[in-house]
Amino acid sequence: QDDIFKNVISHAKEYGFIFPSSEIYDGLSAVYDYAQNGVELKKNIREYWWQSMVQMHENIVGLDAAILMHPTTWKASGHVDAFNDPLIDNKDSKKRYRADVLIEDYAEKLNQKAEKEIEKARARFGEAFDEEQYKSTNPRVMEYLSRKKEILERMARSLETENLADVKALIEELEIACPDSGSKNWTDVKQFNLMFGTKLGASAESAMDLYLRPETAQGIFVNFLNVQKTGRMKIPFGIAQTGKAFRNEIVARQFIFRMREFEQMEMQFFVKPGEEMKWYEYWKETRLKWHQSLGLGKENYRFHDHEKLAHYANAAADIEFNFPFGFKELEGIHSRTDFDLKAHEEFSGKKLQYFDTEENKNYTPYVVETSVGLDRMFLAVFSKSLQEETLEDGSTRTVLRLPSVLAPTKAAVLPLVKKDGLPEVARKIIDDLKWDFNVAYDEKDAVGRRYRRQDALGTPFCITVDHQTLEDKTVTIRHRDSMQQDRVEIAKLRDIISNEVSM
Ligand code: GAP
Repeated sequence: QDDIFKNVISHAKEYGFIFPSSEIYDGLSAVYDYAQNGVELKKNIREYWWQSMVQMHENIVGLDAAILMHPTTWKASGHVDAFNDPLIDNKDSKKRYRADVLIEDYAEKLNQKAEKEIEKARARFGEAFDEEQYKSTNPRVMEYLSRKKEILERMARSLETENLADVKALIEELEIACPDSGSKNWTDVKQFNLMFGTKLGASAESAMDLYLRPETAQGIFVNFLNVQKTGRMKIPFGIAQTGKAFRNEIVARQFIFRMREFEQMEMQFFVKPGEEMKWYEYWKETRLKWHQSLGLGKENYRFHDHEKLAHYANAAADIEFNFPFGFKELEGIHSRTDFDLKAHEEFSGKKLQYFDTEENKNYTPYVVETSVGLDRMFLAVFSKSLQEETLEDGSTRTVLRLPSVLAPTKAAVLPLVKKDGLPEVARKIIDDLKWDFNVAYDEKDAVGRRYRRQDALGTPFCITVDHQTLEDKTVTIRHRDSMQQDRVEIAKLRDIISNEVSM
């Protein structure tokens, strides 16, 4: 699994999808840049989401709110007080850890101890070895595994109740059970706020402390009434938005899975109080189907219903995806009650109520939100599409089987040779197709190598111009996934491509 993930990261770099930010200065941890192909794939995912939300729903409209918001926004939303991660410092190593991740690491060490025992036994018993039976009967292995489970349960309980003294005690206990760096010198566990602060204004005295938004949702809440009134929206209705969000993540590993600057695609759906559960279930199912429609394999998605709820929610679930490092959160669906609108009413002193003409009364709507990370979607799509294939002749090829609708380039046009007027014909085809699709031209290297390069970039079609083209205005069109080649008229190219790549 580690190897697959490394492959994903190096492929993303080698083929111009993702680079570390400011790489010439050795990068900036958990910040990344999208390169020439990455930016296209990311844009296509964003558009695919936008169309399914805004274009396909009469009662959902878009919004593009500013990243900077009045600082009281974050007091009202609860982020100033409650958007924290528990942190613990080690006085000897001077390193800082997120407490829950540190405990999980220890639990993983117990797991490794159990695995070592199993490996030893396997070596001893040879072929007759039954791993499941050994796991369930060997006292040492059983102890390691049950201790791991117990530790994680205790951690969940103490984090849930924000009992930081218990978290610290647990870490110290674990240090004895699984000596780590040999140091036991932990400080108290502290809550660390994840918001990035910045300043507005020139002079030091008059500058105002601001935050970079940690979620796009609040821009929707504060505009709720503006949009409702000017758009004459009737409940139930939604407001959709994509845009950057910032979090000063402590544990920033796993490439673009957890970033400090990332992009969200969120939709806030405003409903009548009492109807929120119906809509919560509706959006859970609708969003799962949306993901599955990309064709990356239905078995790679699952729900995880939350027991521990965020400060604003009365029900919440994640759609998890099978990333190269296991099932992890891809999207959150939250029933946020009237928490946000009520809080903004209270802090701003302005009414944020809806007048229901059918019921002839005012009320504060309830909100069901769907929130997916664009970068996480990118990682999901990219990692699942990247495949090594062994061909019939025994050779291998790397192919990025991106859903065609998301592919950065839809077709590459390749003159078989760099002479005899073939490049000119290829350019003419490009001039014609580029009005409708991203198309690329490539004349370097043998045509077989050019095909492989386009496979690795995820281009669904390669169009080859050869000498026969000059005679009968036909070309070969090669399909990325099947590698099948068909001879077709140039005039039919647009329809063939369009059939496969349209949203
Ligand atoms: N408005 C609700 C909200 O922000 P969240 O669960 O904190 O909820 C929603 O975030 C989604 O945003 C996550 O499911 C994930 O896809 C994405 N996300 C959150 N933090 C992220 C990070 N540090 N890097 C990349 N994506 C992130």
